[in-house]
Amino acid sequence: MRILAIETSCDETGIAILETKRDAPVSAQPSKITVLADVLISQANIHADYGGVFPALARREHAKNILPLLTQALTDANLFKKKKTARIQSDNEKYELSKIFHKEPELLENFKKTLLEIETPEIDAIAVTSGPGLEPALWVGINTAEALSALWDIPVIPINHMEGHIMASLLTSKPDINGKKVFELSSLEYPSLALLISGGHTEIVLIKEPGVYEILGQTRDDAVGEAFDKVARMLGLPYPGGPEISKLAETVSIDTPSLFPLPRPMLKSDDYDFSFAGLKTAVLYTIKKIPELTQEIKASIAKEFEDSATEILIAKTKRAAEEYGVRTIILGGGVTANKKIRTAFGNLVANELSDIELFIPDHKLSTDNGLMIGIVGLIRSSETETAIRANGTMRLAKSSSPTIAELRARLKPQRKLVKKNNTC
Ligand code: KG4
Ligand code: ZN
Repeated sequence: MRILAIETSCDETGIAILETKRDAPVSAQPSKITVLADVLISQANIHADYGGVFPALARREHAKNILPLLTQALTDANLFKKKKTARIQSDNEKYELSKIFHKEPELLENFKKTLLEIETPEIDAIAVTSGPGLEPALWVGINTAEALSALWDIPVIPINHMEGHIMASLLTSKPDINGKKVFELSSLEYPSLALLISGGHTEIVLIKEPGVYEILGQTRDDAVGEAFDKVARMLGLPYPGGPEISKLAETVSIDTPSLFPLPRPMLKSDDYDFSFAGLKTAVLYTIKKIPELTQEIKASIAKEFEDSATEILIAKTKRAAEEYGVRTIILGGGVTANKKIRTAFGNLVANELSDIELFIPDHKLSTDNGLMIGIVGLIRSSETETAIRANGTMRLAKSSSPTIAELRARLKPQRKLVKKNNTC
């Protein structure tokens, strides 16, 4: 099975081409996955002035970058081969492509220039992020996947971005084969708990069995990554703020008492919900009272904010893990790149939940990328119809080969998940 994966939900354009042995379903774990290509362009610098992701700009950048990245990925996978004779486009194909790209004429022109003149690559399916995320950004990936599907006559598998973050955590790097990266997908013991922490989400998800998800709790306002980004902005740090807060916090030694203690909102509430807007606002009020924000004060606030967020995430996850008797905890999403959070969860499992296995994504796989979408695509495409069930807002797509019309219809419910503000 060979899959092309496309991710454009936020501010990273990611494309990967993955391969696994056809005879073994990917869910019959552990499974070996070879990475034939894995390319990414980040727009983080472009959005820096907005302190978040600006949807129209994200769409424009995805549209600019997606085809060059695709060409790069096909070349890396040795699948980019120029046709010997010119291709004659049928009227039907012309109509299909212009319909798909009717709002993106430049993308249609570039698509024709880049892709009509190459041999159909040996790829079995296209996995594309269909939500949640920023709607204008998502559509660039979806339209490109649809156009490729029409051109190459292969199915499109819509993928839930958050499930991608979960699966990325289960990957372990193995020695390269023929210069290509190889990952092993670990087997999971159920029930399992996932804590998804990114720029757009903060969710505790119970995974009852493969593909069966229940959201136990989520943020009532800002996502934790969003709070990191906004607090960073208040402290005069660039976007994305998470790594910046973290770097600044590291300059303060662990046991130095905070100059400005912050609250731990909802730490003790008897649900699994979060509220990070309250914490962010507490930082704002604290800063307003300070006549001069010295480097020392900024660092102390950064550390206290990070400590508060970490404590809340740990407390809620620990309680949910105990209540539901889970066997594994999976951390997923961009905020898992945070060193303090990684260490705190490592300590939690080592000291207090010793019979639970913890999965944290490799640092490079924690933020958005195409590979994580491809992994879910491989799992979906190797499952049987009956093995797949879905629940709640993380309703998952089935493994059958959807037609373009079916894909559009399936996308509709997910479009409701898309937020209108500048988080993903
Ligand atoms: O998963 P992701 O790449 O994109 C979304 O789907 O949102 O997550 C991006 C978020 C941003 O808010 C960013 O500030 C945060 O992850 N992040 C971090 C760190 N690295 C990235 N937050 C805290 N500490 C970090 N080291
Ligand atoms: Zn993400």
